[in-house]
Formats: sequence, structure tokens, C-alpha cells
Amino acid sequence: MIDLLPVDDDVLERLLAVAVADALPGEALPAEAPAATGPVWTEPRKEAFRAYHRGCRVSLEAPVPEVTWAVAADGRIAGAARLALVDDDPAAREVGLWLGRSHRGRGIAGEVAYWAMAAARTMDARRLVAGASPDDAAARRALERIGFELEHRDGALVGTLTLP
Ligand SMILES: CC(C)(COP(=O)(O)OP(=O)(O)OC[C@H]1O[C@@H](n2cnc3c(N)ncnc32)[C@H](O)[C@@H]1OP(=O)(O)O)[C@@H](O)C(=O)NCCC(=O)NCCS
Repeated sequence: MIDLLPVDDDVLERLLAVAVADALPGEALPAEAPAATGPVWTEPRKEAFRAYHRGCRVSLEAPVPEVTWAVAADGRIAGAARLALVDDDPAAREVGLWLGRSHRGRGIAGEVAYWAMAAARTMDARRLVAGASPDDAAARRALERIGFELEHRDGALVGTLTLP
């Protein structure tokens, strides 16, 4: 069973510990983060991770176009999910997910997708969009299994799912 947790400061440090122990910086950091790719969790990358999640917190004073949650599986933090405005299109939300290696291959992506569809509908979105690297077989298979229609665009794999 999965839960989606708001990323407060306590959850943020636990999530970072999972990322450092069990995922690559490039899997857990947004592509636009400074020095997002590379095999080692340097201090600047850890700080970029904290800044990214803090910047995605929902606040009535400062609404943001992107929200993140920690994903907990059977009570243990396993990774993080995100929903973001994409292409300035209020009808679309980009969904993203990374899991620690030890949590992959257990169907968590499908459970998170079910939640993401519900959350996106509460935001009046009509479709979900997801991007993946064309050579990432697990991400491709997870998106196909959830029901995304996949196409190659500018060297990336882009999935689109019309919400029911
Ligand atoms: C992509 C990711 C989120 C998938 O989540 P998951 O919960 O592990 O996915 P699932 O357990 O539902 O597995 C999905 C499918 O991929 C398959 N799969 C898993 N690892 C695979 C691999 N290395 N090669 C090929 N297929 C693989 C599974 O067998 C399953 O297929 P099936 O339904 O036919 O059995 C997870 O692997 C991950 O966090 N990867 C690193 C970050 C990332 O790439 N995010 C993707 C952005 S879209």
C-alpha cells in the first residue's frame, strides 16, 4: 500500500537519505537543477534537491506550478512523485516519479499513477504527460502498462494519457 506525504522538513531529510542511498542524482533531481547529472551526491546536489522540494510546497501566499510528494510504500519512504503545469496548458499536467532501486519492480508506479490521475482531475486537468529517456526500458514499460500513448519527440519519449 502506498501513501503520498507532503514534503515538510522532516520528510525532506528522510527522502534525501533514500535518494542518496538508493538513486542517482539524475533520477531524483529535475533536469534543470544545477549539476543534475553525475554519479555522486555532492553537497551542491543535495542542496539543489532540498531547494527544489521546498520550492514545490503548496502555499496560499505563493502558489507554484509544480507540487511534489514523498511516496511511502508499506510505511517506508520509497521515492517522490510530482505534478507540474506543462507548456503553460492548464488542461495538462506533467507527472514524474522516481523510486529507490530497492522499491522498483513492485508495481508502485501503477499505484502512484492512479493517485496522480485523481489529483490532476481535482486541478481540472484533462490529460497527463510524462517524459522518459527512449532507452529506459523500465520507464517505458511502466508508462505503457499504465495506459500512456507513447511517441518520440526531439529525442525523448513522451507519453500522454487522457483522463477519464
Ligand atoms: C520508472 C519507475 C518509476 C517504474 O516504477 P516501478 O514501480 O518500478 O514500475 P513497475 O514495478 O510497475 O514496473 C513497470 C514495468 O517495467 C518492467 N521493468 C522493471 N524493470 C525493468 C527493466 N530494467 N527493464 C525492462 N522492464 C523493466 C516491469 O517488469 C513492469 O513490466 P510488467 O508490467 O510487464 O511486469 C522506476 O523504475 C524508477 O524510479 N526509475 C528511476 C527513475 C525514472 O526513470 N523515472 C521515470 C520517469 S517516467
